[in-house]
Amino acid sequence: MATEKRKKKKGNNYLLYTAVALIVVAFAVGGAIIYNVVHINDTDESSAAEESSQPSAADESSESVIAESSTPDESSEVPEESSEPPKKSWAEMNTAERIADYEERVGVKYAIDMTDYEAYVCPDDEAKYVFLVDPVHTLGSDYVPEDLIKCTHIREGRPDSYNKIVRTVDIALDAFLKEAAYYGFDNITVTNVYRSYRTQDWLFNYYVDQEWNSGKFKTKEEAIAEVLTYSTRPGTSEHQSGLCCDMHNVDISTPRKFNGTPAATWMEENAYRFGFILRYPDGKQDITGIIYESWHFRYVGRTAATEIHDLGVTLDEYLADERA
Ligand code: DAL
Ligand code: ZN
Repeated sequence: MATEKRKKKKGNNYLLYTAVALIVVAFAVGGAIIYNVVHINDTDESSAAEESSQPSAADESSESVIAESSTPDESSEVPEESSEPPKKSWAEMNTAERIADYEERVGVKYAIDMTDYEAYVCPDDEAKYVFLVDPVHTLGSDYVPEDLIKCTHIREGRPDSYNKIVRTVDIALDAFLKEAAYYGFDNITVTNVYRSYRTQDWLFNYYVDQEWNSGKFKTKEEAIAEVLTYSTRPGTSEHQSGLCCDMHNVDISTPRKFNGTPAATWMEENAYRFGFILRYPDGKQDITGIIYESWHFRYVGRTAATEIHDLGVTLDEYLADERA
């Protein structure tokens, strides 16, 4: 009987142990499932957060979908993709940008590399080169320009009193003549540049004597009036400024043979791009007082030269307008 009871008790214990074991297993499995579910949700959220910080193509397209579906007022606030960045000011541009900007403005590209010339063709202080020298606007007998050097393109054999030029002008002139050579006009040389007050005095009197001695004039005044159509009294010549030059490819004693040649035409049409103007153009003697001199170019800097070219006026008219 006691054995029967022990067996029954032992059977009850087994059932109890089994039940407890099942409950423990059930908790363990359930806990694991709950943990995994929670963990997986956490991982999804953090990776989604990471992805959202790096826009993908899909993000962009979804943004554009949003933009397309937004109201007209909202979409007008979205900047257009084709809008250009604001244009730089001249002061903000580097040399290459300045050259490109100028080429675009005038619609002509330089054939030569202008990198080393730009600062001389269009210097920051170019306004100081824009002034008249004529019978009204004179230079003093002691006026000598600063920074005179021997002209790079001076014709061989010219004496020291005729071969000097202001350095900035010489460099701009070098660019001008290199461009001319590129277009086939490779034999232009400079015959006159800076002339002192004294040299101009000597030259003017030389011409007066020559005209008077020719016997063509009844009075000395008539001979002087003739000279004043192609030369100038001391103190009234641009040559004293060091900013102009006579240049051509004909004999030094017959510069008028340069008039109307293809080289003269090219030089007149392209001078402005290098800061020069033809100072005494054809048909303007009533304004300048001087006959057509296809060889006499004056440096004024590219800004003024381009304006003078575009307006089709002489320096006299250009400055008269500014003074008015
Ligand atoms: N030939 C120019 C006008 C001068 O002598 O200044
Ligand atoms: Zn001259």
